[in-house]
Amino acid sequence: MQQWLVIGANSALAQAVLSRVKAAGHDYRGLSRNPPDDPNLARWQADETSLQAACAQWQAEGYQPTHVLICLGQLHNAELQPEKRLEDLHASALESLLYSNAALPALCLKHLLPLLKRSAAQVAICSARVGSIGDNHLGGWYAYRASKAALNMLVQTAAVEYARRAPDVRLMLFHPGTMDSPLSKPFQANVPAGKLFSAEFVADCLAQRYNELAQHEAGQAWFVDWQGQTVPW
Ligand SMILES: NC(=O)c1ccc[n+]([C@@H]2O[C@H](COP(=O)([O-])OP(=O)(O)OC[C@H]3O[C@@H](n4cnc5c(N)ncnc54)[C@H](OP(=O)(O)O)[C@@H]3O)[C@@H](O)[C@H]2O)c1
Repeated sequence: MQQWLVIGANSALAQAVLSRVKAAGHDYRGLSRNPPDDPNLARWQADETSLQAACAQWQAEGYQPTHVLICLGQLHNAELQPEKRLEDLHASALESLLYSNAALPALCLKHLLPLLKRSAAQVAICSARVGSIGDNHLGGWYAYRASKAALNMLVQTAAVEYARRAPDVRLMLFHPGTMDSPLSKPFQANVPAGKLFSAEFVADCLAQRYNELAQHEAGQAWFVDWQGQTVPW
């Protein structure tokens, strides 16, 4: 039986993945700022203290995840919108997105290491193609792009260390495509027909990517999109 751990468990993608996990009868745990009514999903404050407490609890239970999904992502809120030009850039937005999109997922890899070091686990961290430096021809969205690029570097750096300290764990940075969710809602009008994916479709794609991840080498995180194409750094 698989044992799943899902951080950001109330995100559209996490909910679609958890539906599959429950239907298959697998075990799961998760964290969310606003967890749905489910005893397996705990509340955290999106900070290191509550993350550490949750990881200690799972370790005390002897929980050994085989699959991890980190679904944290922020693009906009009441106070911040993606920047269209340099004049829109504010340090407060950069700080906020670097914290939720890069620092928190990296802290998850820090505190999950003791749980993962004796398992053969596959870890997916949600990134975004707009975090690819090589693929950036459009510009804009400074803080979100920078936070996802920082996430990619943090995860690749962790992959190098995991190869030594948790050699059977594999890490991937997953780009879901444009997916119908609260995150993409304000930006869906210009999405070409057939290119706005449901979270259920993306969850099916992600299941394939998990299967392929097991074949990858330790020490190299895989930046991959929903259809299995490697994304350039
Ligand atoms: N939708 C797209 O088109 C698209 C495209 C490229 C990449 N992505 C990435 O895919 C992942 C899943 O996103 P989604 O589309 O499913 O979006 P979503 O439904 O809006 O979920 C994002 C989740 O991230 C967590 N989160 C948001 N702001 C946070 C904050 N300030 N602090 C801590 N946690 C926070 C929340 O989890 P809880 O509610 O459980 O606390 C939230 O539900 C994200 O990493 C996103 O960047 C999405």
